[in-house]
Amino acid sequence: MRERVNKALHSLIETELEHGAGEVAREAGRILNAGGKRLRPLLLLLAYQLAGGQDESKVMPLALGFELIHTATLVHDDINDNALERRGIPTIHTQFGQAKAVIAGDWLFVQGFSLAARQSEEVVDIIARSCANMAVSEFLQLDHVHNLATSPEDYLAIVRGKTAGPFAAGCHAAGLTAGLPPDQALGLERFGMELGIAFQLVDDLLDLRGDERMGKPRGADVYEGKMTLPLIHALTLSHGPHRQRLANLIETFSDEHFDELMALLNRSDSMEYAEILVRTHLERARSELDKFPDSQAKEVLLLITDFVMQRHT
Ligand code: IPE
Ligand code: IPE
Ligand code: MG
Ligand code: MG
Repeated sequence: MRERVNKALHSLIETELEHGAGEVAREAGRILNAGGKRLRPLLLLLAYQLAGGQDESKVMPLALGFELIHTATLVHDDINDNALERRGIPTIHTQFGQAKAVIAGDWLFVQGFSLAARQSEEVVDIIARSCANMAVSEFLQLDHVHNLATSPEDYLAIVRGKTAGPFAAGCHAAGLTAGLPPDQALGLERFGMELGIAFQLVDDLLDLRGDERMGKPRGADVYEGKMTLPLIHALTLSHGPHRQRLANLIETFSDEHFDELMALLNRSDSMEYAEILVRTHLERARSELDKFPDSQAKEVLLLITDFVMQRHT
């Protein structure tokens, strides 16, 4: 399935190049085709099958559209986060400057949206809303940079908007495209939301664990001032000089303080706390799948929930 997605994405860029799109297509295509797990299109194709959809070609444009839109947000996210690498290769803004990276992101976005817009009006509405919510959440996240008063609720609202919302929208849209009744399609939306929350929680944990698969230095989120759940949890549970030091480290983080930061997070079992939440959200995701009849698609979706957990163990 992933191979089919990759091929289609490749040929999409080739077609644009043949039509004279030039450097913008080449550079956007470089990031698009540099790898990536293709989690969003795969989820969409599987959700469509789970819902009884038979004709993959009816949902493929939507699946590709989601990957293009996702890649657009990564190109823009990397400008904001000053990231040097994405998917193992240099980011567009480091090679060609911020202005071209903004435009390349826009180009990817419009390519993606034009594919998604081939669906019914109801589906297009769902996609548009999830894209708009990403922007809302990214603003929210910027407003919470280095904000030590950020609550778990603030964190969750950001995660729902920036990551889980698009997962939910994709699964919801796939269900509707397969002809599911609205209430069952909403079950798929909840599945996507729960899986997406777990996915971002794990992404945030991996940042603190310093996993080389992330393609960026450990603690990059802390350095950027992102208030992720382990930090929020530790700030709530720590007192006196420990809390003071933690606050200090968050505000002025650099890699030489990494071990000290981790020691403070471990004093309050904050990594474990986030892991428990990952399990809770994955459990909820799985319970939504239980409502569908057994199928190969269901098995693979269950494997994906395992994969999200295993990414950080
Ligand atoms: C990265 O998404 C951004 C997050 C929402 C954490 P992925 O981890 O799915 O990135 P790719 O598509 O595999 O590169
Ligand atoms: C996810 O946030 C970005 C989007 C959903 C646009 P992150 O900033 O955590 O993603 P990474 O860690 O850079 O991949
Ligand atoms: Mg980032
Ligand atoms: Mg991250």
